[in-house]
Amino acid sequence: MKMILDERGKKYILKEGQEFQSDLGIVSAEVLSDAEIGDEVKSHLDHSFKIVKPNVNDFIDLMDRRCSILIKKDIGTVLAYTGLGAGSRVVDAGTGAGAIALHFGNVVGETGMVYTYEIREDFSEVAKRNIETFGIKNIEVKNKNIKAGIDEDNIDVVFLDLPKPYEIFEDVYDSLNLGGWLVVFFRFSIF
Ligand SMILES: C[S@@+](CC[C@H](N)C(=O)[O-])C[C@H]1O[C@@H](n2cnc3c(N)ncnc32)[C@H](O)[C@@H]1O
Repeated sequence: MKMILDERGKKYILKEGQEFQSDLGIVSAEVLSDAEIGDEVKSHLDHSFKIVKPNVNDFIDLMDRRCSILIKKDIGTVLAYTGLGAGSRVVDAGTGAGAIALHFGNVVGETGMVYTYEIREDFSEVAKRNIETFGIKNIEVKNKNIKAGIDEDNIDVVFLDLPKPYEIFEDVYDSLNLGGWLVVFFRFSIF
C-alpha cells in the first residue's frame, strides 16, 4: 500500500491501479504503479507529490468509517496498560471501522491473533475491507453478537467497546488466560 503526500502535507491513500486526482492535478495510474516509496512524482499541473508508506495511524485517519472511532490517546492507554505484544491473543468488540483492531493487529504481529466481533453486517464489511487494504493478516472480523458467546480461549486481552458490556463479564473470564486483561471502554449518555 502506498500513500501520496502533497506540497501542503495533505495525505491520501492510493487505490491500486487507479490514477490520483486532487485540486493540485492528476497523476496517472502508470506513473503511480512505477513509483517506489520515497519517489517524487508530478501532476499534470506540475505540482510535486511524495510517495510514502502509511503507518497504522495514517491509515486509520484516512480509512472508511461509519461510526465513531476510538482516539489515539485511548488506544495508547489500552496498549500501554495491558502490555500486549508479539504473540498476544486478543478479543475485541464491537469492531466499528476497525481502529483499535488494527492497532492490536499491528502490535501482536504475525505470531499473535486478533478476533474482532461486530454485530452489524454493514460495519463488519467496512472493517474487513479496511483491514484487507491495510494488508494485515492476523485479524479475523466476525460478524457476530459477542453476547451470544466468545468462541476463543487462551486470550490475553479482551477489549469491550459496546453497550452494556457487563452482560458478558462471566463469559470473558472463561476466555481469559491467567493474568489476562479485561478492558472496558464506557461511553455514557445521561438524559
Ligand atoms: C463505538 S463502536 C466501536 C469502535 C471501535 N472499537 C473502534 O476501535 O473505533 C461500537 C460498535 O459496537 C458494535 N456492537 C454493539 N453491540 C454489539 C454486540 N453485542 N456484539 C458485537 N458488536 C456490537 C456496534 O455495531 C458498533 O459498531
